[in-house]
Order: sequence, then structure tokens, then C-alpha cells
Amino acid sequence: MRRRPSPPDGGERPYRAAAARTRLGRMNERLSDRAAAGALRAAVAAPSIHNTQPWRLRFDGAGFDVHADARRALDVIDPDGRALHISIGAAVCNMRVALAAEGWGSRLERPGPSGAEARIVPTACREPSPSMRALAGAIAHRRTNRQPFDDTAVPAVVLDALCRAAAGDGLRLVILDPVRGGAVLALTQAADAVQRADPRYRRELAAWTTDRGERRDGVPVAAFGPRPTTAALPVRDFGLELQRAERDAARFEAHPRLVVLHSRGDGPDRWLDAGQALERVLLTASVHGLATQPMTQALEVPHLRRLLSPPGGHWHPQMILRIGYGHPVAASPRRPLRDVMRSTACAR
Ligand SMILES: Cc1cc2nc3c(=O)[nH]c(=O)nc-3n(C[C@H](O)[C@H](O)[C@H](O)COP(=O)(O)O)c2cc1C
Repeated sequence: MRRRPSPPDGGERPYRAAAARTRLGRMNERLSDRAAAGALRAAVAAPSIHNTQPWRLRFDGAGFDVHADARRALDVIDPDGRALHISIGAAVCNMRVALAAEGWGSRLERPGPSGAEARIVPTACREPSPSMRALAGAIAHRRTNRQPFDDTAVPAVVLDALCRAAAGDGLRLVILDPVRGGAVLALTQAADAVQRADPRYRRELAAWTTDRGERRDGVPVAAFGPRPTTAALPVRDFGLELQRAERDAARFEAHPRLVVLHSRGDGPDRWLDAGQALERVLLTASVHGLATQPMTQALEVPHLRRLLSPPGGHWHPQMILRIGYGHPVAASPRRPLRDVMRSTACAR
């Protein structure tokens, strides 16, 4: 299905006019090796469920193909590939933001050739805005933060910026008030209990958590975060099957601030859109000095996910984030680009 091109930041209307003005000037230019490598590095810096990095990338000089890597799918918590597509959408977003910061527009084609989930074709240039440069600068610094956040309230102006970052064609970010936040935490707690009791969940988690420093994917012990001293904040326990790993316990914020990303419609295309919106939100949060942690257990247990869907059946929850102010955390590992690149020869 071909889609009309959309601006990578989803919101800057002058994009088309500016692109039209500059198209003739840039039409015959090719992307520099530096810009292409920057876009590829940006893609692999994206967040992914359990740090599976479920993508294969290909650059043929005219565009970037992003393939799903089915060997990295999580059959137990993500049998439909929803979280996989969201992860790929985040990588697509990073690539487009990195290109935009280099002065390149981009056209998104879906599906891409030879089974790719998406193809990103650099197009006419425009002068990158300061906000686009700031978003691109945040790509390397964004992290999932599993530490306690402090009790400082997130200012309304920052919440507004997050909502604007998410908003696009059929996407919206909902800031939860304490009552609705409490209800989502209760569902998350219920989901967490269901998952912990499932030996298949524990085996899958064990396969993607690691105390081996040389591994370049999965969630390392250093990123697990402390165990909360109370059950009130049901953060995913990545140490379930790695009990030998030393973990501190800590008091987390008394009133976690949660936001939920919804899409109108559900299915692979919408998940890819949601992944792009998610990454715009995470980068925007990073620019504002805000820490973020996805908390998606309730979205992985179908009957609990249904309870999170707003009445009417049009909107579907795709991501739950805990946001706040916290201490910086270390980066999680990434596979080197050579492992992620897909050559024409190995195209399936
Ligand atoms: C769809 C999706 C779901 C995720 N769910 C959780 C979660 O429930 N708990 C959590 O701590 N992190 C979650 N994460 C964050 C990933 O574990 C994280 O992106 C990955 O380990 C890489 O680390 P980084 O984000 O610091 O680069 C999720 C990420 C994605 C894209």
C-alpha cells in the first residue's frame, strides 16, 4: 500500500512548500556517505521490545529498506508482531529525523520492495529547523530509564509538547490523571502477575536478558533498575530469571505519571505509525530533560488490553509510558551496523 509522504516530525506544515521551493536545487544530488551512515546509526539507536532490535536494514544508494527480522520476534508476549512493528516504526522515525537534520526530506513507502516493512527515500531538501536538529541530537541520548523518578511535576507546557509530538494522522497521546493512572497501574499489575506465572514468558524473558557483557542485544543487568520496595509500581522485573544478579531495592515515586499512546485502528500499518509517534514522543521528552520508561505488560495480555481501549472501538492503546525526572542511566548495547545490514544477496 502506498501512502502519501508525511513530514518526519508529523507536524511541520511548511514542509511541503519548503520542499517544493528547494526540490530543483537538490534533485540530482545524492545522499553523502556520511548522511547515509548517520541515518543507519540513528535507526539502530531506536528502542525495541526487550532490546530485540528486530530489524534488517538495506541501503541501495537511492533509499533505505527496513525489513522485520522474524528471528527476533517474541512469540510469547508479541505473537501478532505488534510490538515488533512499533519497534520498527521507532527505527523508521529515527532515520527520517536524522535525514531531516542533514537537510533531507524523506518519503515513506509501505510496504517497501521485496517484503520490506518500509522504504525511506530521501527527497528534496529544506533547511533543518532548530527543533529538528534538537530531536536528531536526542537520538543518541534517549534511554529507557528504569530508575525511580523524583516527585517533581511535569509542567503543562512539556506535556503539551509531548502530545503535539504524538499527534498525527489517527494518533494521540493521552495524559492520565491520577485516577485513570491508578487504574492503568492496577491492570499492569494484573498483567504482570499473569506473565510471571507463565513459564513460557519466563523462558522468553530469560532469552533476552543477560549478565554477559559481550552480548550486543537484550536487556543487560545494568539496565534492569532496582526492585521497587512496594508492589504499587509494577515495573517489569527483567531479573525474574537472573536471580543471581545483585539488585538494589528502591522507593519509586508515589504517584507515577503515565501517558498512553492510542491509534485509530489496529494492525501492522497502524503499529508502524504508532512506533514513529512513540519515538517522536520519546525524543521530545529527551529534549525536555524528561526520563521515560515504557510499561507495556497490560498491552501484552489480550483481555487486559481490551479493558484499556476507550469505548467506541475506534481507538486502540499501543504504548504506556511512565514519565518524570530522574538520574541519567547508561546506554543499552546495540548490534554493530554490519550485523544489521541486509545485503541484496541475502534478501528473502
Ligand atoms: C514496544 C516496546 C515495549 C517495551 N516495553 C517495555 C516494558 O514493558 N518495560 C521496560 O522497562 N521497557 C520496555 N521497553 C523498552 C525496551 O526494553 C528498550 O527500548 C530496550 O531495552 C533498549 O533500551 P533503550 O531504550 O535504553 O535504548 C519497550 C520498548 C518497546 C519499543
